[in-house]
Amino acid sequence: ARATSGDLATSPFKAVAPNKRDAVTVAEGFTTSVVMRWGDRVVAGAPAFDAAKQTPEAARQQFGYNCDYVGVLPTGRDEAVMVVNHEYTDENLMFPADTYTPAQIKAIAMSNHGMSVVEIRRGVVPGDWRAETNLRKAKLNRRLHIETEFKIVGPAAGDERLMTIDDPSGRSARGTLNNCAGGSTPWGTVLSGEENFNQYFDKSGALDARYTAQYARYGITGTGKGWSEVDSRFDLTLDPHEPHRFGWIVEVDPMSPTSTPRKHTMLGRFKHEGANIVIAKNGKAVAYMGDDERGDYIYRFVSAEKFDPARTAKARRHNLTLLTKGTLSVAKFSGDGSEDGEYDGTGQWLPLCTDTTSYVEGMSVADVLIFTRLAADKVGPTKMDRPEDVEPNLVNGKVYAALTNNSNRGKPELPVDEANPLASSMVRASPGAPLTSASGNRNGYVLEMTPVGGHAASRFTWDLLLVCGDPAAAETYFGGVDKATVSPISCPDNVTFDNEGQLWISTDGNVLGSNDGIFRVPTQGPLRGQVRQFVTMPRGAEACGPLIYDKNRSLFFAVQHPGEIDGATFENQASTWPHTDDFPRPSVVVAYRRR
Ligand code: FEO
Ligand code: CA
Ligand code: CA
Ligand code: CA
Repeated sequence: ARATSGDLATSPFKAVAPNKRDAVTVAEGFTTSVVMRWGDRVVAGAPAFDAAKQTPEAARQQFGYNCDYVGVLPTGRDEAVMVVNHEYTDENLMFPADTYTPAQIKAIAMSNHGMSVVEIRRGVVPGDWRAETNLRKAKLNRRLHIETEFKIVGPAAGDERLMTIDDPSGRSARGTLNNCAGGSTPWGTVLSGEENFNQYFDKSGALDARYTAQYARYGITGTGKGWSEVDSRFDLTLDPHEPHRFGWIVEVDPMSPTSTPRKHTMLGRFKHEGANIVIAKNGKAVAYMGDDERGDYIYRFVSAEKFDPARTAKARRHNLTLLTKGTLSVAKFSGDGSEDGEYDGTGQWLPLCTDTTSYVEGMSVADVLIFTRLAADKVGPTKMDRPEDVEPNLVNGKVYAALTNNSNRGKPELPVDEANPLASSMVRASPGAPLTSASGNRNGYVLEMTPVGGHAASRFTWDLLLVCGDPAAAETYFGGVDKATVSPISCPDNVTFDNEGQLWISTDGNVLGSNDGIFRVPTQGPLRGQVRQFVTMPRGAEACGPLIYDKNRSLFFAVQHPGEIDGATFENQASTWPHTDDFPRPSVVVAYRRR
């Protein structure tokens, strides 16, 4: 085969039409393999999956539920290690009726959260990758779960607000929760964002009055999932600091299966989507991050020390400390007016703190890092429409943010601005239904940021590359390209890039009546903004974690929550994808050129 025969970046393809099929439908000429499914064995000795015989112990050795971020790091020419987030569980779809007690369901669901590390190897067709099935050989395989020990590092480690009954030192956390998006680092680790951690905490009495404002800003209400019946640390009344051990960026070293993963306080605490790193021209490691809530912010971290590119153990040890010291900032966007016919303007990074100095009045460094949302509120950043993935494009030096949607935009408390311009948008109920107007921004945007003076500098310019939706809707915009040539796209969520610098976007929550999917978009040249659908998801699923790997031969992605449709149950499923059982199994998939 020619070296470029599988090239996902340069091959033209016919866009996949929007559909409601219960299938992964990929563009003609390409095909897909399922790499790992919910329940597949991860570590040696794990029991085979049986939906009627689930246990917490088994779940902690098997591939967890609802795969999200997918990272792939090479370990050889034909071998690699895949790191996957397991964001949350859908108990209605996971458990046959009358098989488990409510307490068993909670304990098994808890153990289906976390992350998996899985060795993979190239298949017969070059772009295909399969999980290593000889688990005794797969030395890197690992399951991080609700009982895994994490070290809390950075300036806030040891703070009183991180001390719990479990850990009176404030320097360790048990488990990771709601791991959503992520990114890999130039030093070969994976960063994973703890997102909607607020939902896991109950209360047996009053909430601690010291944290009224803090709990409120993070949506921690004590109306949790009843997990405190399984583990009392999820009772806020008993253990008011336990939620402070979540909401961090987690760093995992997949090359070292016995290493203790870390939670980085220097990157702040919010509903983290993930963190994506670029090395600035001054050598500093820069992490871009989103806080996925309606009206929340985009953040940036710049390391105090420089990245060491040497391939030595000493350099790696140094690089592993880069995220513990530096400056955390939040973004403010200013528009230059609508007269130019474009949504664009200038931007500024407003510093919140360094590892030693707070820039927020009345708040210490630890205050800023543990209650980052409250600190940011005080410096006047721009309230965004659900910033999800924020990722640098290493080819063109720009940074791209998926702003998924915001049904509240345009309400009095959230007026429109040039970076979040829509107070209404066109949606449809089913593929054939007419477009109708709905309040707020329903289809989302892709925001492009251009650093001025490098990634570590304080200013940038910005524009909306995409105003998503149906191209027939007047408000949509696709980088200026002819709208007759684009695919409809709704609710951009995760982004990645191929080696040519083209953007790949996965969607979550399509409101144009069809299933979610993944799209390819040129970012430069005459076709800039030409969105083309490459693959569509099964019923009820969102697409997550797209990753282009192996010289543009392979597109990895996660099919998250197939079958998640109101009223669906284990016995009455809306999807059976990937069609290996009579119930759906969230899975990681790889797409590649058919041979
Ligand atoms: Fe877990 Fe913001 O998506
Ligand atoms: Ca403008
Ligand atoms: Ca997501
Ligand atoms: Ca991404």
